[in-house]
Amino acid sequence: MTPPLPRALRPKPPRPGSKPGRNGASANGATGGGDPKALKKARKQAQREAMKQQALEVPIAMLGWLDERTGSTPFLRAFLFRKTPQGTNWYYTLGSATMFAFVNQAVTGVVLAMYYNPSTTQAYGSVRHIINDVFLGELVRGMHKWGSTVMVVLVFLHMGRTFFFGAYKYPRELNWIIGVVLLILTMAMSFTGYLLPFDQRAFWATVVGVNINASGPILGPYLADFLRGGAEFGTTTLSRFYAIHMLVIPGLIAALIGAHLYLVAKLGTSAPPWLKAEKARELAEEEI
Ligand code: HEM
Repeated sequence: MTPPLPRALRPKPPRPGSKPGRNGASANGATGGGDPKALKKARKQAQREAMKQQALEVPIAMLGWLDERTGSTPFLRAFLFRKTPQGTNWYYTLGSATMFAFVNQAVTGVVLAMYYNPSTTQAYGSVRHIINDVFLGELVRGMHKWGSTVMVVLVFLHMGRTFFFGAYKYPRELNWIIGVVLLILTMAMSFTGYLLPFDQRAFWATVVGVNINASGPILGPYLADFLRGGAEFGTTTLSRFYAIHMLVIPGLIAALIGAHLYLVAKLGTSAPPWLKAEKARELAEEEI
């Protein structure tokens, strides 16, 4: 069943004594007398209300048009207007904050990709070009570079919140598992992005990182070969890291965030652990 509209979006009932207009307000009803000043004020207010109503009608008509053709209202209502448990607090915004950081990375990344050149001879120069010559390039590059750190910090804080609030327990285990994969992908995103400026630090840090991978048991050497694109670190390594960084991982993260949010909408968020469930009435009465 479609959940009811939240109170703020329901049409207001007419004020007592006013003529029921389109939005329930009326110039005469507000003044109730002949004072011309008050009458003028009430008329202005009624005009303002009518304009507000008209302005609201445009998006409502657009949504109506879309809804008639897609039937999306029940889905959107169920997804957006959900009840949250008592005691929900600021810690519950960390997941959305992480999502915002991801969207920031995606948008700024697309802009950077328009100028970046993933070749061993051009990569460093193209990043310098973005910073020094491109309009707002330094800002966008800074947002992407610092945004990556913000996303990593936020994803850990969000994981900490769900852990300490016990939100990983039944029935949310699957969402925790999806979260773990999201965490690994976020770290992989940072690792592959670090090489892209192709300066000395990026190069040697990635050589060390790939060698650490190579030292892993059984799969380690294969993984390192896959990341390098062969036995040696070279041109293929950079284009491979770039493809993984801008296509593979963001696609996977976006799909998994979709699944993560679907489960949040379906199961609802968990209540904080210090909140005790209310006893069912019959049980309480039985005890008495
Ligand atoms: C890209 C990374 C992630 C994004 C964008 C994300 C987003 C979200 C959002 C928006 C919510 C609902 C609001 C909230 O409770 O904060 C949520 C809930 C949840 N997330 Fe994440 N998340 C991410 C990573 C993780 C990680 C790493 C874990 C744990 C390993 C995790 C586990 C959970 C759990 C268990 C819930 C349900 C919380 C509850 O019911 O109270 N998430 N996530």
